[in-house]
Amino acid sequence: MPEPLAVRLAVPADAAAIAVLSRDHIEQGLPWRWRPERIVRAIRDRDTNVAVVGEPGAIVAFGIMSYNDDDAHLLLFAVQHSSRRRGIGSALLKWLEEVAGSAGARRIRLEARRDNPAARHFYSEHGYHEQALVDSMYCGIADGVLLEKWLRDPLDRLPAGLPAAVFGRP
Ligand SMILES: CC(C)(COP(=O)(O)OP(=O)(O)OC[C@H]1O[C@@H](n2cnc3c(N)ncnc32)[C@H](O)[C@@H]1OP(=O)(O)O)[C@@H](O)C(=O)NCCC(=O)NCCS
Repeated sequence: MPEPLAVRLAVPADAAAIAVLSRDHIEQGLPWRWRPERIVRAIRDRDTNVAVVGEPGAIVAFGIMSYNDDDAHLLLFAVQHSSRRRGIGSALLKWLEEVAGSAGARRIRLEARRDNPAARHFYSEHGYHEQALVDSMYCGIADGVLLEKWLRDPLDRLPAGLPAAVFGRP
């Protein structure tokens, strides 16, 4: 039986690799905004989780989620090209969603580029709904799509089978 995927919180030594993944697979064609220094700030921010799959120096996926009251915001998310379509993105997203739910988030919001059918299909498969198309959302260069997923029903009951909280860090 395959080993369960190991997701861990990033450490500052992971920042350069994460920033390069963002530059090459998320911010391509746009100004590079998520540079290593900004990733380090996110890693140190107590209201943000930077989660990775892979050992230091060999990261295959990462996701950055921030928390604001009962909303969570998936800021960045990518899997190395050579590791895609193996369920790694799904496992990492599930981990981030479970942490967000445990931390009290009712909804997760995110944005994707309109010209990114892979991401739009991936998020749709995971229950995210497209709320709006925004022209020129990315630096006036690329259009965007706003998506959201509700983690709790309108009566605000906790979903069944919620995992133990793993939010935050010592
Ligand atoms: C989108 C992305 C994160 C998916 O990661 P992944 O590890 O390949 O995803 P999974 O293997 O868990 O795929 C789960 C399902 O999502 C859908 N999906 C994933 N990649 C897809 C693609 N290229 N085209 C269509 N559907 C896709 C499929 O339904 C897939 O299930 P299947 O493989 O059984 O058909 C990855 O392609 C990626 O990093 N892209 C570049 C960065 C990016 O776009 N980030 C998101 C916006 S910030």
